[in-house]
Amino acid sequence: MRRHADEIQHRSITRSQSEVHYGPLPGQAAVTSATEQFLARLGTERETFLRDHFTAAWGWYERLSSLCTAGRIRAWREECVLACGLRASDRVLDLATGTGPLLLGAARTLDPAGFAVGLDLSLDGLIDARAAAAARRVRAEWVQGRALSLPFRAGSFDAVLVSFAFRHLGVPPEVLRELHRVLRPGGRLAIVDFLRPRPGLMGRAGLAYLFWVVPLVSGLLSRRRAVYRLARYLPHTIVDAPGPEHLIQELRAAGFVVERARPLCAGIVWLFVGRATRGVEETTGAAGVPELLSGATRMTGANQRGEIFPEGRR
Ligand SMILES: C[S@@+](CC[C@H](N)C(=O)[O-])C[C@H]1O[C@@H](n2cnc3c(N)ncnc32)[C@H](O)[C@@H]1O
Repeated sequence: MRRHADEIQHRSITRSQSEVHYGPLPGQAAVTSATEQFLARLGTERETFLRDHFTAAWGWYERLSSLCTAGRIRAWREECVLACGLRASDRVLDLATGTGPLLLGAARTLDPAGFAVGLDLSLDGLIDARAAAAARRVRAEWVQGRALSLPFRAGSFDAVLVSFAFRHLGVPPEVLRELHRVLRPGGRLAIVDFLRPRPGLMGRAGLAYLFWVVPLVSGLLSRRRAVYRLARYLPHTIVDAPGPEHLIQELRAAGFVVERARPLCAGIVWLFVGRATRGVEETTGAAGVPELLSGATRMTGANQRGEIFPEGRR
């Protein structure tokens, strides 16, 4: 099939073409990005802000996502799963799963030999995800953890999916190296996310919508400060995100062959599919349930009200 006409030409660019540096605020240590500058004004740091605000905005998060994507988010998540070409027996990781909307769909395509794991920083999201999976009879594991130190052995997964979260996970080369580590050689990575748009009217219009319209509308409708702040935060992460050409370079540097790089909307939402090439130093050996490394929190317990708790907490 003929590829989308706008699929990216894999040309090389220099780092300076796709990075913006901001000066320090008076009396502050140097800050290097729009996101850090935004967080510095609130007097918080990224992980604390994300944990607190994604938690406080649960219930509103999906509506906010829908507003940011003009109602297209579900279709784009489905496209991400489809592009990854999951096989029924795959071991799949949904990184930064949130409340699990992507994995709940993807896990349905797996047979009993397959295995689905959703990982996130936020326990509250995982609690909702697990409840939704139980209600829909979807078989999946939910694990609390961090993208930069995934609690899995090398080569544990056949596929890793990341939807609308890549920007939040840390320095892209480090995140990609960690994703490459947990994939088996030949395993697939699919990322769908907002990226920094190329200069031009469409990109500027998209950013203006995200910077001004989304926070105003979501703040007014929700009447919740956390939702408004999260909506204000999100476009800063897009300005700081790598551009598509830059992300391709970083995927290659981390050991992926880029099989697909497709703009989904106004050159600001992109879908990437990469295949892990290099061998891994350490493997699990036989395929099977990915083994959790020590220190990770697997959501296993439930109290009588059906609330879910991580191991050891009641
Ligand atoms: C915008 S939500 C995306 C959720 C989901 N993938 C979706 O499609 O809606 C971003 C998620 O990233 C999670 N997150 C942020 N930083 C993380 C990190 N360092 N490690 C793991 N998860 C992280 C947040 O808790 C949040 O649930």
